[in-house]
Amino acid sequence: MITEAAPAAKHTKPMDWSAYRADFPILSEKVHGQPLIYFDNAATTQKPRAVLDALRHYYEHGNANVHRGIHELSNRATAAFEAARARAARFINARSADEIVFTRGTTESINLVASAWGSSHIGRGDKILLTEMEHHSNIVPWQLLAERTGAKLLFLPISGDIGLLDLNHLDEWLTRDVKLLAMTHISNSLGTINPVTEICERARRLGIITLVDAAQSAGHRPIDVQEFGCDFLAFSGHKMCGPTGIGVLYGRQERLETMAPYQGGGEMILSVEFQRSTWKHAPHKFEAGTPDIAGAVGLHAAMDYLDQIGRQKIAEHDQELGAYAYAKLSHIKGIRLFGPHIGRAGLVSFLLDQVHAHDVVTVADQRGVALRGGHHCNQPLMHKLGVESTARASFYFYNTTAEIDRFAEVLGEIQKFFAS
Ligand SMILES: Cc1ncc(COP(=O)(O)O)c(C=O)c1O
Repeated sequence: MITEAAPAAKHTKPMDWSAYRADFPILSEKVHGQPLIYFDNAATTQKPRAVLDALRHYYEHGNANVHRGIHELSNRATAAFEAARARAARFINARSADEIVFTRGTTESINLVASAWGSSHIGRGDKILLTEMEHHSNIVPWQLLAERTGAKLLFLPISGDIGLLDLNHLDEWLTRDVKLLAMTHISNSLGTINPVTEICERARRLGIITLVDAAQSAGHRPIDVQEFGCDFLAFSGHKMCGPTGIGVLYGRQERLETMAPYQGGGEMILSVEFQRSTWKHAPHKFEAGTPDIAGAVGLHAAMDYLDQIGRQKIAEHDQELGAYAYAKLSHIKGIRLFGPHIGRAGLVSFLLDQVHAHDVVTVADQRGVALRGGHHCNQPLMHKLGVESTARASFYFYNTTAEIDRFAEVLGEIQKFFAS
């Protein structure tokens, strides 16, 4: 079993992480009269003032449609939208801004690849290799493609509750008829961090195209698509301090250029006649219709904000919080913990004996702790683990160990409540 090593600690001065809480107005909210402990960051993160201000500033000073007008406001909106694209390219170390397609999020990014790349590169009998820990967003688009083309889906197994991929047998799965390998970087249920650089490299040797689902990692650690060596990478703005409704598909330029458009409409064309049309080059040929311009502006602000803190530092803090929570919870009697013991991301999934995950979440909510309970869009993984659902606490840099202490106390209260 292999998992990615914890990023080496590079800084010496301890960070005051709680200072960042002041940047997030919502973190001072009370819920049910209790101070909010927000542990649902894997679902969506909160937004700092820098992002809220950027959205307001855009609507107050720059709002117009992009790429169409020649008036001043349209030029401002276009410049802001394209600046966000260039920023996203730097954020993941893409070779060029032309490799960045704006989408609604990870889900749409993967659907775009399954549809626009899959339709012309996947045929009957071809295999698509996924892993057992994938989010539905990285399963269902491939199922739809497989139904259309007669391709077959295979799933790299995980090792029970600790949830690591068995890479010792990876080469047995990487056969010549596998055309695409799509995997998550960080599992949203297990907290497993997959060694994507190594996996992509082993796939590339056989000419297999690779896609990395970076929904849970892009805002949590440095991402370098050139180092990963992947062909595609997808992420969502809202899981990294940005607004909802905006996300990114990175595609290697040579891949994007060979793909047909995903949707048709305005913005993506060079010319249209009654019977036929011609397209712009990538990335514009994949962006039909008015894009989420404000979303891109907000995402730009989020990327700046995260990089001012430093994603390497965020990754280290994430792992500290994940390890702290795992150690704390492992002392609770009657708890079942999922995911790796060490080197986990900043989230913990668990079940308490005799208490349904939804009950854990409902009672925790009454005490101000926002958790998530359910299958986390990982139904096949839940079935593999032999459960219907788990409760999950997922952290971000603005969370503290004091909040985890309170959360562990709340779990004790929940156990007492259901035992009585
Ligand atoms: C690993 C993973 N992939 C994909 C997604 C889908 O992201 P979105 O709903 O933003 O498209 C999620 C969301 O939770 C996720 O955790």
